[in-house]
This record gives sequence, structure tokens and C-alpha cells, in this order.
Amino acid sequence: MKKIGILFGQENTFPQAFIDRINEKKINGIMAEAVLIDKVMQADPTEYAVIIDRISQDVPFYRAYLKNAAISGTAVLNNPFWWSADEKFFNNALAIKTGVPVPKTVLLPSKDRPDDTTENSFRNLKYPMDWDGIFEHIGFPAYMKPFAGGGWKNVYKLNNADEFFKSHSETGQLIMMLQEEIVFNEYFRCYCLGGDEVRIMQYEPRNPHHLRYVHDGPTLSKKLLDTVKDYTIKLNAALGYDFNTVEFAVRDGIPYAIDFCNPAPDADINSVGQENFEWVVETAANMAIKKAQEHKPGQMNLTWGTFVKNAVAPTTKKPAVKKTPAKKATPAVKTPAAKTTPTKAKKAVATTKTVAAKKTTTTKAKTTAAAPKKPVKKAITTKRKSK
Ligand SMILES: Nc1ncnc2c1ncn2[C@@H]1O[C@H](COP(=O)(O)OP(=O)(O)O)[C@@H](O)[C@H]1O
Ligand SMILES: [Mg+2]
Repeated sequence: MKKIGILFGQENTFPQAFIDRINEKKINGIMAEAVLIDKVMQADPTEYAVIIDRISQDVPFYRAYLKNAAISGTAVLNNPFWWSADEKFFNNALAIKTGVPVPKTVLLPSKDRPDDTTENSFRNLKYPMDWDGIFEHIGFPAYMKPFAGGGWKNVYKLNNADEFFKSHSETGQLIMMLQEEIVFNEYFRCYCLGGDEVRIMQYEPRNPHHLRYVHDGPTLSKKLLDTVKDYTIKLNAALGYDFNTVEFAVRDGIPYAIDFCNPAPDADINSVGQENFEWVVETAANMAIKKAQEHKPGQMNLTWGTFVKNAVAPTTKKPAVKKTPAKKATPAVKTPAAKTTPTKAKKAVATTKTVAAKKTTTTKAKTTAAAPKKPVKKAITTKRKSK
């Protein structure tokens, strides 16, 4: 018997539907259940051939459990090692190397110093930074958001340098990125499962939460949707995620990848709507069954992206992901070719915060620069003089 487990947190609709869907299929030798963790002993295998991880980003104990499960052969989806390693800024760099357009983005040191560091910890950082050069490169309006995170938390839209410094002073120890705004006329949120199953959902982030998943939207060009699908597959092949969403903002016909580091994407029926929910339950169930059937006991059963695979075996020539036959694409949006079967995303429920909403002002913030409280140059000069 190959067991498929799901590890989850506060979500209520997807996990049970996923378990039920697998078990309803009554596939010989396959069953699914909620993961139950008791004692975690080093290098002990789990009873699961496959575990779908929906929560270890919030529960570090689970992340360590999953790595231990993986080294003993469990196929953990998504790969807990890669998930621990990547973040949005690196992923943007990877997108550029992969040929997928992304907005111009700059990484910023945190406003406040990390715990247990002093100004001496920052002597390698130029002070003050070339803020004018950064602003000139990115332009205003701009977006500022954490390099790791999600759920629309601490995302700011900024109109000028004053707003930037004011907002940055509120971000504490968060590492932020400053990003060019993509003024878009289309926005997509795309599920990508198993590397090749893509569901393109038309999304309007400027709408109130319950109206974000657009239904009956305008008919879109097949070429644009094909490009979106191609970029989604390319990004996930490079990253190696089995279960992810990619958001694109389309400007002048070019889809820019905005947010594609979502290894536990929202799959709640109340936010994505009935038809998208049905797609993700069915596709995730089939993917997990396939992984369970392919599972080799005691071996490495994780998915790795081409970034890692090529680093280990740089001579590999064949593409990491097979091109998907056109019939596999099931866009939630209308294409001219699919006019007769438009699908609908019925409603969305608020699960995210609005841009720049709910700022937590810190009283400490009085300078307009980043982490070092004192000019770092001074620290270096002092040290040199003392020699
Ligand atoms: N560069 C950008 N250009 C235009 N809109 C953006 C940009 N970055 C973020 N946004 C808007 O802010 C929202 C939240 O940002 P996102 O990067 O998706 O963060 P999160 O991971 O928190 O969802 C996006 O859905 C989009 O509406
Ligand atoms: Mg997002």
C-alpha cells in the first residue's frame, strides 16, 4: 500500500477534498489521509510514499520533519530543501536567466539591524547607499515588498522618495525589495502542478477581494495565453516546484512575472471559486497518485529544478520538463478557440490585505537609510586609524 499524506494548517476546504478525491478513485494500492506526526526520530522513514506540504512555511518543526522524511524516501511536495533556500529576489534573478520577463528589482538591507548584530556587522555595506541611483533605475510609482513572504503583507505602492523612506522606516528587520511598477491591462494567477499542468485564472487585484477572480472576462488572445503558459512552465522547471502559483501582470502585451514563489498557494473554494477548486483538487489528486506509483522506497523521490540539476550535472542537454500537449491546458479564461466552454470563477473571499494597508509604525525609525545606524564608513575609518 502506498500512502499519500497531506500536512496542512488552518485551511478547511482543500485538504479533505484532496483526501476524499484520491480515496474515491479506489486505485489499487493507493490511499490518502491527513498526516499524523508523533515521535520524530532521525533518519526514520515515514509511512508515507508522498506528502503534500501545505503549511511548513509557518511551522518550522514540520519543515524539519519533512526533510527527515525526504532523506528516507518520502516524496515531499514541494521539495522542503529548495523551499528553504529560495526567495523572491533570487527567483527574479532566476527568471531573468530563464528568459521570463520580470520587473526591475533591487534588494534593500533591512531598516533595523538583525538581533545580536552591531554597526560593525555592516562594515561591508556602503553608507549612505546610492539611493538616487536606485530610484532612477526603478522609477516611481514603485512597489516595495518583502523578499520572502506572501499574502499581500507589507506590500507598499510608493509615489516618491519621501514615501519610500517613510514606509521603509516601518519595515523593521524585514528585507525588502524595491520594484518597478508594471501598469497592467491584464493580470493572471496561474496554478502549476507537477511541472506541466497549468490553470490560467484571470485575476483583477485592484478589485475588492470577493471580485478578484474574474469571470466572464474579455476574450484573450491565444498567443498571450500560450506565452503565459510557457513562462509558467519555464519558471517552475527552473525552480522545481510541484505545486505553485505564478502571477503575471501584462503590459504592452508582455507578461511580467510578479509573484511566483507560492509553494503553498491559496486553494480555498471560497477564494478561488468552485471551478478552479475542482481543477486543483482533481489535478493535485492525480499528481499525488502518479508520484505514489513512481515512488521508489528508500530513494530520493524529490523534485529538483533545473537550477540545481544543472549545477550538479551541467552537461545535461535535454529539457527538464516535457512540453505539454495542448489538450492538457485547461485555462479558466476564455480563448477564441475555447469560446464554447468558458469556465467561471464564481467568487473570491478576502484572504489578503490591501496594498500598504495596516502599517505598524515604529518609533525608532528616524533616519532615512537602511540598517546601519551610524555611517559605516566612519566605523571602517576608525578601525583603520587604530591600526
Ligand atoms: N511590480 C508590480 N507592479 C504592479 N503591481 C504589483 C507589483 N508588485 C506587486 N503588485 C501588486 O501587489 C499585489 C501583491 O504583491 P505580490 O508580489 O503578489 O505579493 P504577495 O506575495 O504578498 O502576494 C499583486 O497582486 C499586485 O496587484
Ligand atoms: Mg501575490
